[in-house]
Amino acid sequence: MKKVNLAIFASGSGSNAEAIIHYSCRLDAAYRVALMVSNNSQCLALQRAMMFDIPTLHISTVTHPEPHDFVQSVLASLREYDIDMIALAGYMKHLPAEVIAAFSAAEPQAPRIFNIHPSLLPKFGGQGMYGLNVHKAVIASGERESGLTIHEVTAEYDKGRILHQHRVALLPEDTPETLAARINLWECELYPAVLQTQAELLRTMKAAANDSRT
Ligand code: GRF
Repeated sequence: MKKVNLAIFASGSGSNAEAIIHYSCRLDAAYRVALMVSNNSQCLALQRAMMFDIPTLHISTVTHPEPHDFVQSVLASLREYDIDMIALAGYMKHLPAEVIAAFSAAEPQAPRIFNIHPSLLPKFGGQGMYGLNVHKAVIASGERESGLTIHEVTAEYDKGRILHQHRVALLPEDTPETLAARINLWECELYPAVLQTQAELLRTMKAAANDSRT
């Protein structure tokens, strides 16, 4: 069966992106990484994708200062690479509403845009909650556990349907850095696997839709 074409949007170090790319090399992967988009031309995530010969694009307010041009460039790139699904992996920019609308699920069970967040949403999500800020806030609040959330992306940020959560216990000696590192190990394990389930679902839905047309 044809693989689902996945685009990864990333801005930072790209550990999640690389884990997804690794997974996609498996024979039984239901997706292939067809494109990597970043708003940061210098980020490690882009370099990691290049090492795997994955097409990369830098699309930002530098390349496209006008918001309309930015949106059109993202949409045109997604069309050009025939993208079916998008995985946000440390993308430090809001995905434009037009892109979210263009990828809104035809079938509610088969969402097409995903994000990973390093806390147990709805806790420690929203404005300002990115990178070490999240882990600093978790430790400062005296929580005994944190974790990660993989969720559907909708127009309301960090509020889309939760697809998977994984809990990680806090250790008395934890610093934001040690907590981030421990959660990141699970992110790299679980995000590729959740995308596999979602790609299988999308593929099944598409096949059923094709069958009903013939
Ligand atoms: C991860 O912690 C992810 O949960 C968050 O951004 C971070 C990206 O890390 N959305 P990396 O660039 O994949 O290493």
